[in-house]
Amino acid sequence: MFLGSQDIQLGVNESLLDTSKVVSSMVDGIMARVGAHSEIETLAKYSTVPIINALSDLYHPTQILADLMTLHELYTPKGSEPHTISPATTLKNLRLAWVGDGNNILHSLMLQLPKVGMHMTMATPKGYEPNTAILKQARNNALEAGTELLGAFHDPKEALQDADIIVTDTWISMGQEEEKKQRLQDFAGYQLTREMIEASGAKAGWKFLHCLPRKQEEVTDDVFYSPHSHVFQEAENRKWTILACIHQLLVKKGF
Ligand code: NVA
Repeated sequence: MFLGSQDIQLGVNESLLDTSKVVSSMVDGIMARVGAHSEIETLAKYSTVPIINALSDLYHPTQILADLMTLHELYTPKGSEPHTISPATTLKNLRLAWVGDGNNILHSLMLQLPKVGMHMTMATPKGYEPNTAILKQARNNALEAGTELLGAFHDPKEALQDADIIVTDTWISMGQEEEKKQRLQDFAGYQLTREMIEASGAKAGWKFLHCLPRKQEEVTDDVFYSPHSHVFQEAENRKWTILACIHQLLVKKGF
């Protein structure tokens, strides 16, 4: 059952509590894309079936699954099949650099990368740093995993140094459309260009990812459409990783 914004307006005509009860009585699981993260928490609190976060203002965990799958495929040694080797082996000690907004994608990357032994460095404009509590949690995760989490720097070149993988996202996330003018000003100097990356000391075989949709301002065509970019493989992997989430959900329910 697909309930788009024309069909359902979470928390507008009906309380989230009531919607959660009604929808969960009809399905085996719910994937919800919301605004405020508290909406996912409320749905999860009152739902009688599992809730998967399909995006909130704080986190985008399923996107990172697709990112990790893509990187795992790219870093699986020639002659091996990805399913015969663990991502914790193929991805261990790789360094991912984030240049952009301190947003939901960055938060989920920070929390999830230590699980596969990856290091992370980030640069965000002043005033757009990641959420302090999430950064603290991510630093703890990194400490426990023995990985590095560096930043938030305010200089993209600093973050790009020694990067194996470079990731950015839109500067204007869903719900921030009214801030567009201010954000375009505040993010000046953060556009990823081939020249910037090559001058920054990124590793020779650097790879580029972006969750899409992509806007021109955050990354130039000579990066986005270059052989370094794997954004379309990453987009396809959204399908496989979501199917895997739903499979797990059904397994948990005993199907
Ligand atoms: N940061 C973006 C991610 C889009 C997939 C947003 O929240 O709109």
